[in-house]
Amino acid sequence: MEEMKVTKFPEGFLWGSASAAYQIEGGWREDGKGITNWDQFVRIPGKTYKATTGDVAVDHYHRYKEDIALMAEMGLKTYRFSVSWARIYPEGRGEVNPKGIEFYENIIDECLKYGIEPMVTIYHWDLPQALVDLYGGWESEEIIEDYVNYAKTLFKAYGSKVKYWITFNEQNIFTSLGWLTAQHPPGKFDDQKTFYQVNHHVFMAHAKAVLAYREMGGTGKIGASFAYTPSYALDCKPENVMSKHDYDELKNFWWMDVYAYGRYPKAAMNYLRKKGFAPVVTKDDQKILKAAAAEIDFMGVNYYQSCVCEYNPMDGVTPYGTMNTTGVKGSAQVLGVPGIYKNPANPYLMTTDWDWSIDPVGLRYCCREITSRYDLPIIISENGLGAFDKKTEDNKIHDEYRIDYLREHLKELGKAIEEGCEVLAYCTWSFTDLLSWLNGYQKRYGFVYVDREEEEGATLDRYKKDSFYWYQDVIKQDGENL
Ligand code: BG6
Repeated sequence: MEEMKVTKFPEGFLWGSASAAYQIEGGWREDGKGITNWDQFVRIPGKTYKATTGDVAVDHYHRYKEDIALMAEMGLKTYRFSVSWARIYPEGRGEVNPKGIEFYENIIDECLKYGIEPMVTIYHWDLPQALVDLYGGWESEEIIEDYVNYAKTLFKAYGSKVKYWITFNEQNIFTSLGWLTAQHPPGKFDDQKTFYQVNHHVFMAHAKAVLAYREMGGTGKIGASFAYTPSYALDCKPENVMSKHDYDELKNFWWMDVYAYGRYPKAAMNYLRKKGFAPVVTKDDQKILKAAAAEIDFMGVNYYQSCVCEYNPMDGVTPYGTMNTTGVKGSAQVLGVPGIYKNPANPYLMTTDWDWSIDPVGLRYCCREITSRYDLPIIISENGLGAFDKKTEDNKIHDEYRIDYLREHLKELGKAIEEGCEVLAYCTWSFTDLLSWLNGYQKRYGFVYVDREEEEGATLDRYKKDSFYWYQDVIKQDGENL
């Protein structure tokens, strides 16, 4: 299709930015909060970069007013944040903690005071440890009821003020890293059978929460956020094209088809049955998934990079290898599934210091695929650049690389809109700098620099980066100056 110039983002477009509780709040034991799976996991030696934790994080728990005032100064239209389940239910179920309810109420009210639309993620990876101890967390179907109960508590408490709800953040990532690569809690390795069953439990929790929201009269918008890594076949060699097809079914449509259609992709399911990894799915489950699929209002997309697919022989690379968590370029390995696909580097794209490909067109590809395949509105719930930022002596942060990254992605998003995609919101990752789960504090994403290193003890003062002023201007001009 011909090259086009983006002129207008739609009326009421939500220019936003995002965060997650564990990565910003700190206050890990304050006001009755329960211990989470992450509070425990980060204490296992070798699990996180330089043993970093979210105990203090960037102290948003005490500085949320300052942070939201900065969002208001920037002109943000929406702020996406997550609720920590263990602040609301310290034990995961049972007694509600009023202090937890109050904390998020304060955040929501503070946003609304400035006309910022709160967008709430119900689950962004931190799970009350009590539920892990009780029945193994997501491994048991008991968790479905507890999650729905927790979600209903949030709908009841904040439903009159919050119009955008995200049930789960990146189900595909927290389950893959939790049960396949052992990099997230519960740290299980190559447990494929459990991985698919856990995912089914999460799907059911998502579906039942969506239906509960409607039963409670919720008229806002609800959906899940998926970490979408679109794929390109290495070339037109049929076996490489087929590997792309398999990759899409197993790595993308496996999740998005369930959210949008309420069913699993067939070829992938057949493959998993043969392998003995397919989840147990009852007839009732199928009905519930379908009913919920008819109720979702958008597909949430977290987009960071695309990938390349090439056929991977049976004796080829495995999904388990070194991931770059240090920022030393070139330290990531090529990974894949023997007999199906592998993901070599894309020679046409530059990469970040953490070896993530930089591909603005990939964002447009995601939007086009979702629009054609699912005909759903889209919320870009995350997109951003993790980089080493330096604060100068006069307290400036010249992050022109981040501005370039975001500008190019927004241009492609604008094109997708021109091409017919209905995009409701664009949230950058992230507003302030924050803890990158496995990569410490040195991998920075924010518009606002936070004075802290891997070790505790720095001031935690906030400084506006050049990208802060740039995005402020983009918002002011509704993207017309891109
Ligand atoms: C997404 C998550 O995977 O990407 C965020 O939703 C995360 O929580 C972000 O921080 C960036 O990833 P990373 O590994 O660079 O922190």
